[in-house]
Amino acid sequence: MSSIAKAGLVVAGTLAALAIGGVVYVGSGIYNIGADDHHTKIVLALIEQLRERSIGVRARTTHAPNLEDPTRIVAGARHYAALCVGCHLAPGVTKSDIRPGLYPHPPNLAQEDIRDAQRAFWTVKHGIKMSAMPAWGKTLDDAAIWDVVAFVRQMPGMTPETYQQLSTGHSG
Ligand code: HEC
Repeated sequence: MSSIAKAGLVVAGTLAALAIGGVVYVGSGIYNIGADDHHTKIVLALIEQLRERSIGVRARTTHAPNLEDPTRIVAGARHYAALCVGCHLAPGVTKSDIRPGLYPHPPNLAQEDIRDAQRAFWTVKHGIKMSAMPAWGKTLDDAAIWDVVAFVRQMPGMTPETYQQLSTGHSG
């Protein structure tokens, strides 16, 4: 047998062993899928890379409207207060009953600087599998999702008073 053929056999054997190992590992039920336990490092790294690439590739195809439009921001604040605050918090809202048990942990959008609006739009519209992040595109149309994105971008640095005014529509 040529050395190339031998090398091919070794590679094929290794791949087969890995595949069988994977099936046995999954089948054994050893992996804890409970949300009160963390992923192992390797599973987390895989999932994060999968999420980053998947969203990165898909988000490029959308075009953002004017996100500085005040009517958009106000409309977005109402949606946010109704649909998102429990998981993602807001200025002056520092905890909720649902957050401690969520894994992956939802980012605190009152503090996170959402620079990439297209990415945020895609994530809000389509959600993220195996996380608590819903696909809001089933509930909101694209215009309403852009409203929410416009609002979310304003949150870091917003005072609790401004958040109250915007989200309830009451001034003062
Ligand atoms: C039931 C909880 C839950 C609700 C409600 C929810 N989210 Fe999320 N959201 C999550 C989780 C969990 C993640 C993180 C997923 C991950 O890391 O894979 C997330 C991720 C995101 C991200 C990505 C942030 C980043 O750093 O890339 C955005 C943006 C977002 N959510 C916006 C919203 C908006 C806007 C709403 C309301 C319309 C909303 N979410 C409602 C749980 C929630």
